[in-house]
Amino acid sequence: MFAGFVCMAALGKYAAGLTREAMGTEVTPKKIAITFDDGPNEKYTEELLKGLEERGVTATFFLLGKEVEQYPDIVKEIKDGGHLIGTHSYDHVNLSNLTDAAAIEQVDKTNAAIHEITGEYPEYIRPPFGCWKANLDYETSMIEVLWDVDPLDWKTSNSDVITKRVVDKVEENDIILLHDASESSVKAAFKIIDELEKEGYTFVTVDEILFNYTGNMLQCK
Ligand code: NI
Repeated sequence: MFAGFVCMAALGKYAAGLTREAMGTEVTPKKIAITFDDGPNEKYTEELLKGLEERGVTATFFLLGKEVEQYPDIVKEIKDGGHLIGTHSYDHVNLSNLTDAAAIEQVDKTNAAIHEITGEYPEYIRPPFGCWKANLDYETSMIEVLWDVDPLDWKTSNSDVITKRVVDKVEENDIILLHDASESSVKAAFKIIDELEKEGYTFVTVDEILFNYTGNMLQCK
């Protein structure tokens, strides 16, 4: 019995599903995605990755090209952890204020830097400040990913405040925005994960939410 318990703890989210199934209650997981912008961060990303691994959770990281070039080993660790890597521009600029050529360069330079390390070109972009132009979807072949819940984690150093802002607001299939740029954000990420898993949520990468989204299909009926 003890060995079984240890095994289930190690499995994290999968164990939670099995437990509910064994109890004959709700088995459909409520999906949710947690995302981190502005990394890789020399000080905090590795601490975050360790905590995610301990919890068996995969996240999505929107990386800055200039930081990718500076910390390639951390990018490799994100990739090796099974997380999804997207682009957040090269210099953290408002892409909608740039010429198309300059905006495309921000994306292409970042994607090339990520590809150099991971062997894969990112397919998703979170534009800084959420500012993007529709024609850039075609020009860059990137899929834009915004967010549903923004606790403004960069404005406070109180991880409980960040956690409460997310947990109080979040719903199934939401995308949570955080930054792996401070101790409080990393701590909040762990608290958010632990709390929402207790509430029956399963953490997935953003692609799993975007491509299982049925809202538009329902509107067509
Ligand atoms: Ni940002």
